Amino acid sequence: TYVIAEPCVDVLDKRCIDECPVDCIYEGDRMLYIHPDECVDCGACEPVCPVEAIYYDTDLPDQWSAFQDANAEFFSELGTPGGAAKTGRIGRDHPMVTALPPRSE
Ligand code: F3S
Ligand code: F3S
Repeated sequence: TYVIAEPCVDVLDKRCIDECPVDCIYEGDRMLYIHPDECVDCGACEPVCPVEAIYYDTDLPDQWSAFQDANAEFFSELGTPGGAAKTGRIGRDHPMVTALPPRSE
């Protein structure tokens, strides 16, 4: 599956959403998450992210390896909604993301 990593936090460019043919990129609060069971590995989202936050799981840089579990665990309560348009903005994050300091640039 594809995974969204730390560069998305507090950026949420969202142009990835428009590329996904199965609408499996969901909006938390500070970042977006890819549903590991709904993603069909088409790869269309990866090149459009301006901050290079999206990786195929085996290509995920080591410092962001925890984001693979974070993307999956984000859906532990949501299950498999079958499309982000149905859920809309979820408004909360995986605890690991909530705990990150605000991005200051
Ligand atoms: Fe985030 Fe990049 Fe999508 S910043 S919202 S993963 S385009
Ligand atoms: Fe969608 Fe990206 Fe997967 S476009 S199907 S989340 S590889």
